Amino acid sequence: RFKAVIFDLDGVITDTAHYHYLAWKRLAESAGVHFDQEFNEQLKGVDRVGSLELILAGAARAFSAQEKLEMADAKNRHYQELISTMSAADLLPGAVDALAAVRAAGLRIGLASVSKNAFTVLEHLGIRDRFDYVVDAATVKQGKPHPEIFLTAAERLGVAPADCLGVEDAVAGVASIKAAGMYALGVGSPAVLTQADRVIPGLDQFRLEDY
Ligand code: G6P
Ligand code: MG
Repeated sequence: RFKAVIFDLDGVITDTAHYHYLAWKRLAESAGVHFDQEFNEQLKGVDRVGSLELILAGAARAFSAQEKLEMADAKNRHYQELISTMSAADLLPGAVDALAAVRAAGLRIGLASVSKNAFTVLEHLGIRDRFDYVVDAATVKQGKPHPEIFLTAAERLGVAPADCLGVEDAVAGVASIKAAGMYALGVGSPAVLTQADRVIPGLDQFRLEDY
């Protein structure tokens, strides 16, 4: 019943969510802010500057624009170091099969990640050519939970939002999919992704015919 499937990248197709976590944790602790997995849930799907602001809201002092810029850069350099050795071995179980199943069913495939490193990660994973359209995060004005990124993907794929299935591991991402008027398939825990239409633990449980 769908005409396109639009995937998030980090935490859905590959476990870069963990690398983002490690990089933010080091940055947060250097600013004297306690950082744990629970706080990290709020950052998933949120862009770099937005994430930094959320972290620094818990700091004892204010930081100048220049300091923030340097902190965002430091986090990104650490993150790029962590992803530099990634390969196809870092694809999450079921990711390639899910992409192949969507392709075999004749549906269009999009990628909607707010990460400015998404193209690099896709190259490392060797799956860039499996997508009909990859949103360039640098051109997106409003990050998730705003619907812009999913709506942009649908438009560029030439498919109405109501005919799209969005796949997300983040609370903000599921909210973005729902705000775009799409069916939201959550990847993770139903207790966390309460707004999703359906939740599966991982793409190895992806069954297109079930949604
Ligand atoms: C994704 C991740 C976030 C990350 C954001 C920006 O949405 O889920 O954890 O902060 O991308 O990534 P970037 O690579 O541009 O810093
Ligand atoms: Mg994600």
